[in-house]
Amino acid sequence: MRSKILSILKNADDYVSGEDISRKLGISRAAVWKHIKKLKSDGYEIISVTNKGYKLAAVPDAISKNVIGLSLNTEVIARNIIYTEETDSTNEDAKRHSSEAHGTLFISELQNAGKGRLGRSWESPKGSGICMSLLLKPDILPQDISQITLIAGIAVCRAVGHGAKIKWPNDIVLGARKVCGILTEMSAEINRVNYVVCGIGINVNTSGFPKELEDRACSIFTETGARTPRNELIASVMNEFEPLYESFINNGFASAADEYRRLCLTLGKDVRVISHKETVTGTAVDIDNEGGLIVRTSAGTMSISSGEVSVRGIYGYV
Ligand code: BTN
Repeated sequence: MRSKILSILKNADDYVSGEDISRKLGISRAAVWKHIKKLKSDGYEIISVTNKGYKLAAVPDAISKNVIGLSLNTEVIARNIIYTEETDSTNEDAKRHSSEAHGTLFISELQNAGKGRLGRSWESPKGSGICMSLLLKPDILPQDISQITLIAGIAVCRAVGHGAKIKWPNDIVLGARKVCGILTEMSAEINRVNYVVCGIGINVNTSGFPKELEDRACSIFTETGARTPRNELIASVMNEFEPLYESFINNGFASAADEYRRLCLTLGKDVRVISHKETVTGTAVDIDNEGGLIVRTSAGTMSISSGEVSVRGIYGYV
């Protein structure tokens, strides 16, 4: 009921009377008032004026399970949320609590040892970004797990909007700089996955970056000038992720491959691929149905499933 009241207030340009809300939702005015009180205690700034009604002035930005829940329309994903004010890394939280249910979401307001890909670190100032990790228990083969990262990338792009694109495999880019990184880890045996942790870090309202990152990193705020309510963005990523994940589990990556191709800014560009064996240069021409990057080089066409890929013109490779 509270999410319905919230959506009425969000869609109104001006005050909405308690009577209007009670009529629309078929509840008493006293019940409306009780829900408004609860919304206020969750941090929503709602102005109430006698004879005018209620007006939503601001949505809370401190991360809150209740507030996320109001915008969540998933069945399983993020139905269990474990929030900490500070942690080392939400990926580590998920691993420590791997007995929790499939779909559990770990979120922290501050990571003091956030991890990036390839052994790098991930920094996100308190109160401005999103650091979260999903615990998943898919019944698929370990070699297909990296495709979950690609699916998560699509979900983030849809939720972030503003023309967000993917630098293969899983950097989310706004303009020409990185706004989000995804780190997927797993515990598996040769033929069986125990669990997967899909960690997502989004720079949301961060207002600036250290000099050495300025050319490579951005936030939704630095790109658009607008502040994004983090709780709603978290819910929106989860809402987008669930159906993509379901269809991936049932039909494989092919079900999302076309959308991934459309979002992938790497395609058609000159790339430099650095793997543990060698560095090759060529042109990225396609994404195969397993999520691999097809690169045309002078020595022929190759499919790359992992490694560091620099894209000419996108942070770093000129
Ligand atoms: C990258 O290098 O691009 C991946 C960055 C992943 C960062 C996220 S923040 C939430 C989760 N917890 C971590 O320690 N890392 C991931």
